[in-house]
Amino acid sequence: MQAQEMMSGLRIPEMDELGHFFRSLPTSTLVGIGALTAVLAYWLATRPRPIKPPCDLLHQSEEVPNEGGGRRSMMGDPSKLLTHYHDDARTMYEVFQRGLHISGDGPCLGSRLPNQPYKWMSYKEVNARAEHLGSGLLHQGCQPNPNQFIGVFAQNRPEWIISELACYTYSMVVVPLYDTLGPDAIRFIINTAEISTVICDKVEKAQVLLDNVQRQETPCLRRIILMDAFDTDLVECGKGCVSSDVEEGFISLTLNFISAYSGNPKGVMLTHGNVVADFSGFLKVTDVIIFPNQDDCLISFLPLAHMFERLIESVVYCHGGRIGFYQGDIRLLPDDMKALRPTIFPVVPRLLNRMYDKIFNQANTPLKRWLLNFAAKRKGAELSRGVIRSDSIWDKIFFSKIQASLGGRLRMIITGAAPTSPTVLGFLRAALGCQVYEAYGQTECTAGCTYTTPGDWTPGHVGAPLPCNLIKLVDVPEKNYFAAKGEGEVCVKGPNVFKGYLKDPERTAETLDSEGWLHTGDIGKWLHNGTLKIIDRKKHIFKLAQGEYISPEKIENIYIRSEPVAQLYVHGDSLQSCLVGIVVPDPEVMPEWARKKGLIGTYKDLCKNTALKTAILEDLVRLGKAAGLHSFEQVKNIYIHNEMFSIENGLLTPTLKAKRPELKEFFKVKIDRLYSSISM
Ligand SMILES: *[C@@H]1O[C@H](CO)[C@@H](O)[C@H](O)[C@H]1NC(C)=O
Repeated sequence: MQAQEMMSGLRIPEMDELGHFFRSLPTSTLVGIGALTAVLAYWLATRPRPIKPPCDLLHQSEEVPNEGGGRRSMMGDPSKLLTHYHDDARTMYEVFQRGLHISGDGPCLGSRLPNQPYKWMSYKEVNARAEHLGSGLLHQGCQPNPNQFIGVFAQNRPEWIISELACYTYSMVVVPLYDTLGPDAIRFIINTAEISTVICDKVEKAQVLLDNVQRQETPCLRRIILMDAFDTDLVECGKGCVSSDVEEGFISLTLNFISAYSGNPKGVMLTHGNVVADFSGFLKVTDVIIFPNQDDCLISFLPLAHMFERLIESVVYCHGGRIGFYQGDIRLLPDDMKALRPTIFPVVPRLLNRMYDKIFNQANTPLKRWLLNFAAKRKGAELSRGVIRSDSIWDKIFFSKIQASLGGRLRMIITGAAPTSPTVLGFLRAALGCQVYEAYGQTECTAGCTYTTPGDWTPGHVGAPLPCNLIKLVDVPEKNYFAAKGEGEVCVKGPNVFKGYLKDPERTAETLDSEGWLHTGDIGKWLHNGTLKIIDRKKHIFKLAQGEYISPEKIENIYIRSEPVAQLYVHGDSLQSCLVGIVVPDPEVMPEWARKKGLIGTYKDLCKNTALKTAILEDLVRLGKAAGLHSFEQVKNIYIHNEMFSIENGLLTPTLKAKRPELKEFFKVKIDRLYSSISM
């Protein structure tokens, strides 16, 4: 009797969920008692265990004395910032040597040909090839010192990492070059960093470089080393400049050029110490929950030209794990994932959005979509208690296929580079059943400066400061943000902060102040539990003709929530008294949205339809009002454009941020027309 009372008084949340699920199903689908018993047995066997967070989630950062309101992580030594995690891995050279030592001669770098299994190069092989390549470079006249800059111009592949390691072995500096920079920027980088040697993957890339050489526009470039085989034509036109198979001290730099909003690319100088500090920060936050090991396997497809990817890869090889490269075609990524079965998956929000859209497009009936959302909500309830798993009943019924399509072994997804939508992040955390971390940062602080605290799976913020850096907010009075109110420009200080821009003292001084604080240009807000939320950008602020300050990105962040809208650009300048916008509707969503408003047609036709334009404009203004925009902050007219802004058409930076000067130029005629239509 007593036992029974206790039983009924005992609340088992997962059983509530099952009850909830069965109650909300039509009775006809209810199964027999036998099946129910099986479910119960299954539940007992797979009871979820919550993750124990490494700190109090209601108190994820704290203010430190004498640092102008700077806050630090709750992890690590309160008296000093973290500079390294392993005593035997303080340079990038040592980081790889550590992995080599741990793994013995385990698999290190893998690649595959179409429809074939992955082939692996072992740690010893990679090490030997890196030494070989490095001594080959020296043989060709490269100097083993940190003033020797070596360009790497290639897609992700094993030779990229080997080239990087070759440089680390002989204290030379890696300078990544990438296609989307465009030929002018590549020429600028080669000349600014006085690069004499570029290692590149394909003949076409070598050709781009050779064209510059032949026009005598890159006088310092002497050697191009090709990873792929090439024919004599190229040698002929390179006149002794091209070779392959060169493969026959230790504090140095890595130099990452990043594109600037305006002007030439900026060469961000990062030391080994910067990279090691940043990666130690990530390790420290997660070490009690998810420590990288020899069984870990990372899928490499995000450009290695960005520090985010290189940093995560170095975490993997520091611990003896393996890195598998995609075939080089993003459309084949799902196939590569299935063949590789990775455990670590670094992504950008755009890819998460695409996964989310695909899942919901495949659930092609309202009932299926309802069930999917229902299951995600139930798992979301587990998430909020810190439980992450992929073996719940919801996984068996709904999510296991999605998980299998990613290889079925994922332990950790890391997203960065741009903000992720809370809806998408929340759904995928539930559906994928693995830990999804969000990082925030920029190349100037190596990659990340804040990170999700394990156990805090709530979206809508970028986590707490990493243990390697402090973060403070600084007043931006012209935009009405004040540190005293917990809002202001995000500033970062610590051993992961860069040394300056190469040969550019002016822009260095604008970004790095005399006390060592990096001014990021992002506006942040402290939430009461010590996490940071990014709310605006400092730059791109202008006055309208009547003197009101406008921050177009704040307005765009609000408008982008409009359902039919995929991308938008808000424009205004001090000659005008109001704002206008360029809107790209979402091809997947807009036609259906329009249909509900009685507008029928193909995507392209609808984009030309003025009734659609009016409907979208009304929706934007409605959202703006709800978010408290002043009337001068609302767009007065919009133009509907039917092609997405992309890296390829030059309207997005390689890190997927809007290129505002380019957008303004590109849409100049449309913008003028919008203004003249308003004044009429
Ligand atoms: C932290 O605070 C934010 C804002 O109030 C909230 O959305 C989030 O759920 C909180 N996180 C935790 C783990 O309490």
